[in-house]
Amino acid sequence: MSDADAQKRAAGEAAAKLVDSGMVVGLGTGSTAAWFVRALAERKLDVTCVATSVQTEQLAAELGLRLAQLGETREIDLTVDGADEIGPGLSLIKGGGAALLREKLVWEASRRCVVIADAAKVVPTLGRFPLPIEVVAFGHKTTAARICDVLSEFEIGMAPRLRAKDGAPVRTDGGNLIYDAACGRIEEPAALAAALKSITGVVEHGLFLDLAEQALIGAPDGVATLEP
Ligand code: A5P
Repeated sequence: MSDADAQKRAAGEAAAKLVDSGMVVGLGTGSTAAWFVRALAERKLDVTCVATSVQTEQLAAELGLRLAQLGETREIDLTVDGADEIGPGLSLIKGGGAALLREKLVWEASRRCVVIADAAKVVPTLGRFPLPIEVVAFGHKTTAARICDVLSEFEIGMAPRLRAKDGAPVRTDGGNLIYDAACGRIEEPAALAAALKSITGVVEHGLFLDLAEQALIGAPDGVATLEP
């Protein structure tokens, strides 16, 4: 196992200890969240889980976790999820796994959100990781042009790139497309988030601001806790 994987695993296992029987738990998406899901299943608690993607739903079902859809349970007590970047104040970039919309829906429906990651994800300024922006397929090139205009207002010159895999555009679980915007440095994440959200055709973006209450960061010498 690589150092990064060992750190992801340590963070996931630490987060699983935050769960008690009787809780409704949001399950994130990605390789780090998968370690949390495995560790949670091993604890054999009486919990109900809400998954943020089909991928996570399948893993949780295989491991015997009880699943419910968002909105079919009482409020979610705790959501644990990974991130692509963790910046100042626990501002995050998410969506590298194309699950940002369902992730944000679950995060916003949760009393408490904890982000788990390996140490390399912690950055002084967001933006090195390309910002995922989910758009509806209809007219997506027109929407991409609008995104370009907004990015220019924030002095971000790079055009967003349509995410593709094996020669075909990536579709999210909701059937939408993803554009990745190589921002470099995001100096004003809240203003950029609001501007992107105001574009018709943009469904969601990967800036998760003021949502994470705590970060558990795997490091070579253990798991560090960060607060906003
Ligand atoms: C999924 O859409 C993302 O938000 C993931 O949480 C993020 O990409 C982190 O993935 P890893 O845990 O695999 O690094």
